[in-house]
Amino acid sequence: MKSISKSFMTLMAVAMMLSCERCSGEAPYNGARPASEPVSALKEAPFPFGAAVTPALLYDNAQYATVVKRELNSLTGENAMKMDMISKGYGLYDWTGGDRVAQFARDNGMRIHGHTLVWYRSLPNWWMDNFSGDRDAWIALLTTYITDVVTHFKAQGVTSWDVVNEAFEDDGSWRHCVWYDNIGQDYMDIAFQTAHAADPDALLFYNDYGMEYSAAKRVAICNEMKAMLGRGIPIDGIGLQMHVNVNTPKYDMVAALDAAAELNLKIHISELDVAVNDINRPDPTLTFTDELKEKQKTAYKSMVEAYRALPSDLQFGITLWGVHDAQAWLAPNPDWPLPFDKDFNKKLAYDGIIEALERK
Ligand code: G3I
Repeated sequence: MKSISKSFMTLMAVAMMLSCERCSGEAPYNGARPASEPVSALKEAPFPFGAAVTPALLYDNAQYATVVKRELNSLTGENAMKMDMISKGYGLYDWTGGDRVAQFARDNGMRIHGHTLVWYRSLPNWWMDNFSGDRDAWIALLTTYITDVVTHFKAQGVTSWDVVNEAFEDDGSWRHCVWYDNIGQDYMDIAFQTAHAADPDALLFYNDYGMEYSAAKRVAICNEMKAMLGRGIPIDGIGLQMHVNVNTPKYDMVAALDAAAELNLKIHISELDVAVNDINRPDPTLTFTDELKEKQKTAYKSMVEAYRALPSDLQFGITLWGVHDAQAWLAPNPDWPLPFDKDFNKKLAYDGIIEALERK
């Protein structure tokens, strides 16, 4: 039998490794990049690097799709997998948007993170307007929805979920919402148990904002995570949204991430952006000056440096809340929160991330 050259065997082995990583959606980075090589894309991070995306832009905007494929290896639907987008009646669902995001992720070897099963916002009108019932009826509504959605998207390749989003107020109290008011505080336990029953392999996250600026919220969330773990509730990770701004000190970022690390849960910076304008009292005349561009670069660099300081086994990844400034949720105000500008050009913010990724 003609001997097969060693180089051919090596080539085949590399091809199999790459194809396997693509099919698993795992970050292609495997530590093989020589330290001397410059980082040429966000997805070369030593953890998955993603963004919140919309199906329309993925399929109808070639520049957007090009940047997503070149830079990212994890996707979150910005809105496509929310209850108001999916639930159209009791047991009636429109999977279109979520399926398109999941399809794009599968076609491009990317991880797909589900956002979000239970939230106080984005509630479908069909039952907000006329659903009523006792606690058991609300529990049935919640568990039926979670079971149907997690079951559907498991088959679409979703491997992790924001199960509950934003259950706490900034002062550390439980947020009053339809779930808390009609089921009680244990709606969170029920949601995680139901999601786990529907997909035992999925990584299940609690997701919230403000752990970097409110110590009361940070303590309340971490105490509840510990209590849930103590009750044997299946929770695997915590999402820190990190909607920060150009004035957010690095020590606030570190305080939030260190508090999360004590839980020994996977840590997802799940909605990263760096606002330039004041989101509570926006200045309608604000312009994106060179000074603000440098401050934004520093904030992004600090955040990625703080994240890289975490134990690597806790690093679930970083997800930007959007790809480019024109898509940003803050867009109604003059703001430029993302690493790519409205024309998909890399900003100094992008350079800040790369510098933090290159730092050994
Ligand atoms: O799809 C409808 C469209 O048919 C309609 O014409 C239009 C005007 O009413 O509304 C469209 O839905 C909007 C949706 O975004 C899609 O664009 C909703 O009104 C709007 O409320 C929704 O805003 C999203 C918001 O969550 C509420 O779901 C933002 O894009 C999204 O960036 C924001 O993301 C949240 C995270 O999920 C949780 N963390 C905070 C973050 C920022 O608020």
